[in-house]
Amino acid sequence: MLKVEETQPVEFSSALTVKFEEITSRYPEGKQKSALLPVLHEVQAELGWLSPAAMDKVAAYLKIEPIEVYEVASFYSMYFLKPQGKFVLEVCRTGPCCLVGAEKLMDHIENSLGVKEGEVTPDGLFSWRGVECLAACGFGPVLQIGPEYTFYENLDAEKVDTLIAELRKK
Ligand code: FES
Repeated sequence: MLKVEETQPVEFSSALTVKFEEITSRYPEGKQKSALLPVLHEVQAELGWLSPAAMDKVAAYLKIEPIEVYEVASFYSMYFLKPQGKFVLEVCRTGPCCLVGAEKLMDHIENSLGVKEGEVTPDGLFSWRGVECLAACGFGPVLQIGPEYTFYENLDAEKVDTLIAELRKK
């Protein structure tokens, strides 16, 4: 994954450009705007997040206004508008998970990783955040780990520490 700073101009790789062409070819001529979501996923997979410069380039590629890209990217929580760690721990913070310890778990993750919500660990490996219901309400506390969005249920502090240790070894 490339490391892109907030103000840095971006160049998409030729592999990414090929993916853009494959994705947009699925849509009728003149409807390339419909490819916005999958194109943004591919950009995020390559850069780790969607910088303003990257979104501007996507807008130019799809021949739409930059604001149309910003609106979509800021609406869906799966798009990152700030740099993230290689692994993003997303903890459900909705009511049912909070009743079984999600808030304590987030405090524990903050202490274990040594960074606040939305920050990146100095080694660039981890960031974490609370998210809304992950649709496993009977199995909380729950978290998913991006970029693959692997799902973990019935968590406690010990299990999370084991997960973090395993991710460090990857
Ligand atoms: Fe946590 Fe639904 S409330 S998964």
